[in-house]
Amino acid sequence: NSVLSTESFGHNIIYRETAPSTNAIAKEEARRGAPAGTIVVAEEQTGGRGRLQRAWFSPYAKGIWFSLILRPHFSPLEASKCTLLAAVALVRAFHTAGLTEAGIKWPNDLLVNRRKIVGILTEMDATMEEINYIVMGIGINTDVARVDLPEDLRDKATSFLLEGVRIPRKELLNLILMELETLYTEVEHNGFANILDEWRKYSVTLGRDINVITPGYTYSGKAIDIDSDGCLLVETDHGVERVLAGEVSIRYK
Ligand code: BTN
Repeated sequence: NSVLSTESFGHNIIYRETAPSTNAIAKEEARRGAPAGTIVVAEEQTGGRGRLQRAWFSPYAKGIWFSLILRPHFSPLEASKCTLLAAVALVRAFHTAGLTEAGIKWPNDLLVNRRKIVGILTEMDATMEEINYIVMGIGINTDVARVDLPEDLRDKATSFLLEGVRIPRKELLNLILMELETLYTEVEHNGFANILDEWRKYSVTLGRDINVITPGYTYSGKAIDIDSDGCLLVETDHGVERVLAGEVSIRYK
């Protein structure tokens, strides 16, 4: 803990050599009362998961696979914006680390030259009135080399190593926790409005022609903005659609 420069984030660390998924462990620990700021870190995940039930490739010591437990006081309706917060914090930390090219693909990916370097999976336990806990799961490809990547990910994924930026994982994790803590504290006091502009600045989605893919159907349009709820606003032939992150994915045209 002596290397950590945060007030509380990451002071309680649950470390695993190998884990099915750090999100699963974090949820279990949160249910058992683990304090806010607790992180679960694993060298390797055997069942790493992404949004929409996708698998998340998490090879041994080649990335930072971790989950952060939060117990915010804001409304459950605001929880999905934690993903936006995480994305902004990660871009800031990457800038400090020397990786300046990362952009945010709505809602939860960081890309470098169209290739994915980060995935974020936010999960929540709440009633209608209040949040019990949020688990923010973050996967960062740091040392993934081309040979490590399964065939189907070769053109879709990148890493710090592949982008030519070397930084020890511990140092990067410390930078990330610092930025997460700063932004989270700010949001707990002043709400999310202040981070939306920074999100827009780092976005690589806004201004693009995209396909919105829902379980039922697909439509196309132009991503024009996000609203105060974090929904993506897509201009189509039939007017502006408000897209909620939950069950959709988007693809650039
Ligand atoms: C996505 O791209 O859809 C999100 C990927 C999230 C991956 C991280 S790695 C740490 C945490 N544990 C998981 O099983 N998933 C998240």
